[in-house]
Amino acid sequence: MTDRITVVGMGFVGLTTAAVFAEKGCTVYGVDANVDKVRMISKLKLPFFEPGLDILVKKAVRSRRLLPTNSLNDAIRASNIVFVCVGTPMRSDGSVNLEYIRQVSSSLGVALKNANNKPTICVKSTVPPGTTENIVQKHVEETSTKKVGKDFGIAMTPEFLREGSAVTDSMSPHLIVIGSNDNRSRNVVCKFFRQIYGAKAKILNTNIVSAELIKYANNSFLATKISFINTIANVCNRIPGADVDIIAKAIGTDPRIGSQFLNAGPGYGGSCFPKDVAGFIHYCQSLGYDPLLLEATDAVNKKQVNLILDIIHSHLHVLTKKRIAILGTAFKKDTDDIRESVSIRLMEELIGHGADVRAHDPMALPNTRERLGGKIMYASSVAEAARNAEAIILMTDWDEYKTLNEKRISRLTKKCLIIDTRRILQLKPKKCIEYVALGRS
Ligand code: UGA
Repeated sequence: MTDRITVVGMGFVGLTTAAVFAEKGCTVYGVDANVDKVRMISKLKLPFFEPGLDILVKKAVRSRRLLPTNSLNDAIRASNIVFVCVGTPMRSDGSVNLEYIRQVSSSLGVALKNANNKPTICVKSTVPPGTTENIVQKHVEETSTKKVGKDFGIAMTPEFLREGSAVTDSMSPHLIVIGSNDNRSRNVVCKFFRQIYGAKAKILNTNIVSAELIKYANNSFLATKISFINTIANVCNRIPGADVDIIAKAIGTDPRIGSQFLNAGPGYGGSCFPKDVAGFIHYCQSLGYDPLLLEATDAVNKKQVNLILDIIHSHLHVLTKKRIAILGTAFKKDTDDIRESVSIRLMEELIGHGADVRAHDPMALPNTRERLGGKIMYASSVAEAARNAEAIILMTDWDEYKTLNEKRISRLTKKCLIIDTRRILQLKPKKCIEYVALGRS
């Protein structure tokens, strides 16, 4: 493959995208303004944990298919497609902070000014509708004094990869969305993706604003599905004999509903769903439209943590100095990412009540320590976290937590409340164990 690609932003989406394109045969410039991050990747170290990505990055850097660099100028001039993968974090009012997008767009313009090539710039970051044209295109045109369509192309190609399975998701995406408003950009990007993913890959061509909206619609729908099943779980908790998993299994067989993303739990977290639902709500309101459904999705999600707290309070009453083990601090298993993790919110509440919190996570303890410092104790094993605990709260479904059984628990602690937010255990009621599974009465 002769394509030379630039990926701007070596965060989660950018680094995965760059490594996968390199694996598929492209030469990829991995650009980031952060000198330490670029140095780390050059030395074959990942700035975060993602299953399988380390192998891909090592292979790509060693074979010089992935070229980590701080120099956007050199990368742009050598590339025919540039993917923008910088972060679009949430502001405190829920709106989307587009500062990185603005900065990168201006830098792209500066790089293009004296360049002889005509690259197509593809926005992969999740951005509110209108951003690609009104901010990216506008800034690039202004700073480069060049014209879109004539001197460079523009497109929007949203990303659907999940943390924890990012490599598999990016190696064979279920759909490639190409948003563009001119034929040349569409053809360049389409040809590239066909080369990468083959003739059978599903490609949907649309305009830029629809591509931007597809990403928000996709994440908002998935988040709504989770808040819906959490609502059913909360009803099940109040009806003897009811079991949310059976209900999810049954309704999931209806092809109109589908079985995925119907796992009830402590609420969704991570760097995407909370931010994107809030960002989309904010965007809708800016249009003068109140998106009641999305507001409900968000409200249900925010309340899930209170439910867990209520159960803890009703069993332990005063929490001061009570030892509580938290199993799983990241927003889900298979990641070390604690952004918007419900577990972190729960621990902050427990700390506020004076509880003696002991946390375990197979990957996320360093990030948790950075956030909570000396306010909790960090356990290197499940046993260390659970020893003499009055409550054990299972927040994520790592495989190693599934081995907890009555025998093990009673060896570790005399009397204990177990809250299983993901229903991964099947504990029988015992004198010393009170077992509460969210979504089962
Ligand atoms: C999500 C989307 O799934 C990706 O398609 C999208 O590309 C990504 O956001 C993004 O916008 O970048 P991610 O946040 O990595 O991916 O993780 P998910 O697997 O979607 O999980 C999000 C949260 O929902 C987690 O807290 C998880 O525990 C929760 N969840 C998920 C449930 O509570 N129940 C489910 O059935 C599924």
